[in-house]
Amino acid sequence: MNILIIGGAGYIGSHVAREFLDRGHKVTVFDNLSSGLRENLFPEAAFVHGDILRYEDLRKAMRGQEAAVYLAAFKAVGESMIRPEKYSVNNITGTVNLLNAACETGLKYIIFSSSAAVYGEPEYLPIDEKHPANPENYYGFTKLEIEKFLAWYERLKGIRYASLRYFNAAGYDVKGRISGLEQNPANLIPVIMEAACGMRSELTVFGDDYDTPDGTCIRDYIHVNDLAIGHALALDYVAREDKSVTVNLGSETGSSVMEVLNTARRVTGKPIPSRVAGRRSGDPARLTASAQLARELLGWEARYSDLETLLSTSWKAYAKKTGL
Ligand code: UD1
Repeated sequence: MNILIIGGAGYIGSHVAREFLDRGHKVTVFDNLSSGLRENLFPEAAFVHGDILRYEDLRKAMRGQEAAVYLAAFKAVGESMIRPEKYSVNNITGTVNLLNAACETGLKYIIFSSSAAVYGEPEYLPIDEKHPANPENYYGFTKLEIEKFLAWYERLKGIRYASLRYFNAAGYDVKGRISGLEQNPANLIPVIMEAACGMRSELTVFGDDYDTPDGTCIRDYIHVNDLAIGHALALDYVAREDKSVTVNLGSETGSSVMEVLNTARRVTGKPIPSRVAGRRSGDPARLTASAQLARELLGWEARYSDLETLLSTSWKAYAKKTGL
């Protein structure tokens, strides 16, 4: 299939592009390189240096494409609460442009990177797709609104979509084919990696007084190769069944901040200094996914999402880049 990967030079997008190429699709990466990197591009894929906020860029790139994978959103939860304008313009206006260009060019399928942030504070665990969606941060709100736009355009224009609610994406390509490191990361595992290779002095642990066994927050970390496979299976499903779908992609395993940190210390052989600070606002104590629906509908299962693989693949990428 001809597939446009919007945000395909980014951290998750480059892994998704690699997966679609491996499966024999004809891939075009569309990216404005604001956080995406040229080094994440593959010679087998075409590249369009364009911006979703420039409608013409998008319309031109979408001509002749059958599917678009849409990963070009801002994703820093903390920043979204301080600068909602930025998130409205990029995440919401960008979506409207994408959907309108899809109508104009006859694009059939959209695979969208949604997020567990759409759920907000969990009412029960593990979280399944029936859990109420009450986002607690503006980033999560934009993801939920995008899902609603997709549902309306499906109803009115027949565009089929898959909305993939990622839990905590982490890790690097298990075959080591992606080398670009995320710029100014705020997520736990890249921050730990930066501390391990001396790019920052320490990890700040946001709170150790939660109601969890070791007092630190529990999350469901999902390997980026597993996510990438999920995109490919979701496109297969949407095209085969001619139906849209909204599913969680998570490992169904909870790991605490201290568990992640201690595994990282072992895997890297580095001391990784850490300091406990106060809680970060809006952090639920625990978040874990039910991925049963993805299993049933897509035949998807996490294969690389154990802590060991998450951290060893990350470490390989960081150690290579920093010459360790
Ligand atoms: C959030 C979103 C998630 C989204 C992701 C994208 C929520 C509830 N979750 O994940 O859906 O996909 O952002 O960026 O909105 N931590 C530290 N020190 C650090 C960084 C993190 O202790 O320097 C802790 C956090 O308190 C948290 C855990 O590590 O308990 C994971 O944090 P992070 O990687 O930022 O992801 P989430 O906030 O869980």
